[in-house]
Amino acid sequence: MRQEAVGYNRRMRLKMLMGSLSLALPLFAAGPASTVPTFNRDVAPILYANCATCHHPGEVAPFSLLSYSDAKRYAPVIAEATSKHVMPPWKAEAGFGEFENVRALSDAQIATISAWAKNGAPEGDAKDKTLPPQFNASWTLGEPDLIIDMPSAFDVPADGNDIYRCFVIPMSLTADMAIAAVDIRPGNRRVVHHTLIYTDATPSHEARALAAKESGGAYTCYGGPGLPQAGLMAGWAPGVTPKRLPEGIARVVPKGADLIVQNHYHPDGKPETDKTQIGVYFQKGAVAKQLFSIPVLQPGLHIPAGDSRYHVTTSFTTPIDLEVTSVGPHMHLLGREMKVTATLPSGEVRPMVWIKDWDFNWQGAYIFKEPMKLPKGTRFDVEAYYDNSSKNPRNPANPPKAVSWGEATTDEMCIAFIGYMTPKPSDRMTLMMSLAQQLDLMKYPALTGQRAPAAPKQEK
Ligand code: HEC
Repeated sequence: MRQEAVGYNRRMRLKMLMGSLSLALPLFAAGPASTVPTFNRDVAPILYANCATCHHPGEVAPFSLLSYSDAKRYAPVIAEATSKHVMPPWKAEAGFGEFENVRALSDAQIATISAWAKNGAPEGDAKDKTLPPQFNASWTLGEPDLIIDMPSAFDVPADGNDIYRCFVIPMSLTADMAIAAVDIRPGNRRVVHHTLIYTDATPSHEARALAAKESGGAYTCYGGPGLPQAGLMAGWAPGVTPKRLPEGIARVVPKGADLIVQNHYHPDGKPETDKTQIGVYFQKGAVAKQLFSIPVLQPGLHIPAGDSRYHVTTSFTTPIDLEVTSVGPHMHLLGREMKVTATLPSGEVRPMVWIKDWDFNWQGAYIFKEPMKLPKGTRFDVEAYYDNSSKNPRNPANPPKAVSWGEATTDEMCIAFIGYMTPKPSDRMTLMMSLAQQLDLMKYPALTGQRAPAAPKQEK
């Protein structure tokens, strides 16, 4: 697997930006003192509330934004990144879908930061000083009901390609359990870029079999866990804080299931080790509704080498009423854009999510502010674009190669995971069968691998 294209994005861009902007800095003229925003009064509160979760020592962002001297040093880049909406990272187009986990600055906040940077980034009056937020290593939701450790530490080399590893860990549950929340504590935030947690409930423990072929109780995996039957349980990326599901709602994990912990490691220039810890919180009361997701996908993609705007569509009409809670777009490195809509039988079109500047590094589920109640007969439409030209800096092949569906970095995917909750767990099978039939999934050997009989791609 070759993944250097991902690494380009983070280190090189920052270097380039710092280089070009430091030249421009002396040209900024100072404005009148009274109207100029200051760090202590105006800027620190914005940075502490919206940036510090990721920009503090030991976290994944490349520099801290807790002190005045840090912020001043990066002032021009901060102004640029916020006004171009690169930071805070949030990929969904505003006004297209209403999300509860949105990360964004207001226009006024962006203007404040720009004016501060343009005027020499003054510190301001000491009496206006805001205390920086405290970050401690304890569990956000309190002591978990169950703590699961990676059996041994994983060594991340100093340099080289990004590493995608699936660790298989027995959960040792003696009964089916309703899960209200999962918190993930990366052992080493400097190198853990993100973590996805899946469950493997196959009677034959298929994930263990995959790990047995490699070393350290883990196997190499990229887009997903490489196991069609595994269900996604939780994810961690920098800046994500866990939340409990409301009472009565849960993900149910069958007894005997294993956890698959997929870690994306990003070498940071020195040898590092990681031992990620997972905290599980059970739902105490009765479970009225269970959470699942259905992957609306297009496995029939064949992206010609050099095509800079390859167009892919897919649709799925739900055979039952649905209460949709989230949408999670998924593509690999050539993906550029994805739009998902729901068209009701009445013809009304509801926007779900639109990402115009796809970045594999910043994917995740977009959780709706209010669950969307969609009647039977509602059609989900997914529209995506891919750039397989040599102008795409993330293109893993140079010169570009023809690309089709697959698990590897160099393959592509087109999936919108539609998250829903239901009082009837059998709905899941109804939906999967209907999906397989509508998209004729049996005819795609790449979906099923050598391991399983024809079945839809893994849930996520
Ligand atoms: C969810 C985590 C997260 C949050 C929140 C966040 N950043 Fe970042 N930031 C990063 C990471 C990681 C990078 C490294 C580049 C990358 O991966 O895109 C970065 C890079 C940057 C850069 C370098 C320029 C660039 O475009 O790469 C600047 C400037 C920056 N952040 C400023 C901010 C500011 C200002 C805020 C708040 C308004 C903020 N960030 C919020 C994670 C975050």
